[in-house]
Amino acid sequence: MSIPISSSNKSKILVFGGTGYLGKHVVGASVSSGHPTFVFTRPATPHTPPSNVHLRDEFRSLGVTLIEGELEEHEKMVSVLKQVDIVISVLPNPFSPDQVKIIDAIIAASNIKRFIPSEFGCDVDRTTALPPLQACLDKKKKMRRLIEASAVPYTFVCANCCASYFINLLLHTHDPRPDLVVYGTGDAKAVLNYEQDIAKYTINAAIDPRTRNRVVIYRPPGNVVSQNELISSWEKKTGQCFEKKLVQEDEVIKLSQTLPSPQNIWVSIMHSVFVKGDTTSFDLDEDDLEASSLYPEVEYTTVDQLLDIFLVDPPEPACTPLE
Ligand SMILES: NC(=O)c1ccc[n+]([C@@H]2O[C@H](COP(=O)([O-])OP(=O)(O)OC[C@H]3O[C@@H](n4cnc5c(N)ncnc54)[C@H](OP(=O)(O)O)[C@@H]3O)[C@@H](O)[C@H]2O)c1
Repeated sequence: MSIPISSSNKSKILVFGGTGYLGKHVVGASVSSGHPTFVFTRPATPHTPPSNVHLRDEFRSLGVTLIEGELEEHEKMVSVLKQVDIVISVLPNPFSPDQVKIIDAIIAASNIKRFIPSEFGCDVDRTTALPPLQACLDKKKKMRRLIEASAVPYTFVCANCCASYFINLLLHTHDPRPDLVVYGTGDAKAVLNYEQDIAKYTINAAIDPRTRNRVVIYRPPGNVVSQNELISSWEKKTGQCFEKKLVQEDEVIKLSQTLPSPQNIWVSIMHSVFVKGDTTSFDLDEDDLEASSLYPEVEYTTVDQLLDIFLVDPPEPACTPLE
């Protein structure tokens, strides 16, 4: 297929996984920034969820070019890649190893200026987690080493926690309840970033010469918060008082060993983020690239502002692993 030549000096950005939870925000941020945007998506079938079909229509109306294909279609991917500048993968975690197929196509196309693989979590080289989560981190680590060895220009993005997702898990903003689960003591600090801001930082990082072959950490100062602080803010905003159901660390660890997959992974994520505080456990020094410092022009939504939004417009419900 042939992609129209862009009339501006903007980069052409191709997104894999663009119809997903995080991917749709990345596509939206790319379009909003004026980049000609392309989504490599699996062919729609009668089993494709209506929400996914609707999103595809929405993308088309925004001028996004949808390319239907499978990761196995090497030649097709190469011909598409030859016509774009930047590749961002937002594929789901279990398919992280499949990104090798994207890397092979990028190497064959040989024109890609930047590849952002699907990480969008903690810094995998600075985090050690419980075994079910560690297995996922190891896949992402392996991908880092492969990309570094491939000579493909890359940026590894550590987006930390998707705020809407985790705030809803912790506070049940959509389906209020009198009691809330607290993992560990509730005092460990976590970084919760609004999904739309994660997407904006990612598009900025993708075209930034300073982030070539570097790791970028998304840790805006207004988004560092503990569970206890989060609950306290929510109590003030709602005028309610919640009963805290404490789940001690040893219980969380035990659940990570006994629950089936994927609940064991979720429990391990809660342990890493909210019991150990892994997203804030290391200090950033002058060698680190932090997104809100790199892009001060991005007016990110703080956790406090997000709670105000959720007070009137809560995000869709999500289920917690311990309930
Ligand atoms: N830090 C956080 O809080 C957080 C939260 C959520 C996700 N993440 C990370 O963000 C990344 C994306 O996760 P996500 O939850 O947004 O993904 P997702 O919604 O589960 O899936 C993204 C897209 O990938 C494509 N896809 C799904 N299964 C596939 C398969 N078998 N083969 C090829 N393509 C497939 C689908 O697009 P098409 O149907 O269009 O092909 C789907 O819409 C992951 O790295 C994840 O770890 C981080």
